[in-house]
Amino acid sequence: MSVGAANTNTEAAWDGRAGRYPAQEWLEARAISAALRIADPGPEDRLVDLATGTGAVLRALARRPRRPATAVGVDHSTRMLSRVGPLPESWRTVQGDARHVPLPDGETDVVTCSYLLQLLAPDERGRVLRETRRLLGLTPRARLVVVTPWADRGTPGGRLVHGALRGLARARPGSWGGLMPLDPTAELEAAGMVPTHRILLPRGGYPSLVIRARPA
Ligand SMILES: C[S@@+](CC[C@H](N)C(=O)[O-])C[C@H]1O[C@@H](n2cnc3c(N)ncnc32)[C@H](O)[C@@H]1O
Repeated sequence: MSVGAANTNTEAAWDGRAGRYPAQEWLEARAISAALRIADPGPEDRLVDLATGTGAVLRALARRPRRPATAVGVDHSTRMLSRVGPLPESWRTVQGDARHVPLPDGETDVVTCSYLLQLLAPDERGRVLRETRRLLGLTPRARLVVVTPWADRGTPGGRLVHGALRGLARARPGSWGGLMPLDPTAELEAAGMVPTHRILLPRGGYPSLVIRARPA
């Protein structure tokens, strides 16, 4: 998720990136597909995709034979949302802030959130994760799947890639700030979530980490 020329994470900055964003979505596709596989949303689930952007997650979800009856994509940028395209009946997008989502408590079974958390300051990430917890409530089916850029530092190749992602994100925050590697495990736990699945995807797109978690 190259983020273009501006170096902020404001609604206006994302409005300015909306035209260019779809050109790099292929680099997200493998991680999004893994995220949907472990989220496994079915017709019985109500899904919210936080920071849905141009709708990469919603479109991948719409192509699955098993898909939720309702899905809501939330994003603060109206221009990113304008690129989402047609969605299945009873799915919709909502302009809103992931830190204060304009949806009720406990009426969501699955939250997905791809390539948002690494853009946020730690206190904002905490707010988004607590908001996720509020949306999910405590039903046994409740689950969150998050995708972030990451490379496993346990191998020499992984350390190299991790350093390169970090270096690029720091040196060119305007263009590559979205590549800042982040493992949100500790922050998920601090927000009252228990990570249950973890998939590392070092190749075939942005090096990424996919985590599924449930409310504690
Ligand atoms: C890197 S893009 C990811 C988009 C999409 N999830 C994907 O994987 O293609 C980040 C998105 O987060 C949105 N965003 C950033 N901060 C936000 C916030 N506080 N509330 C809602 N959306 C936000 C931006 O507008 C942008 O669409």
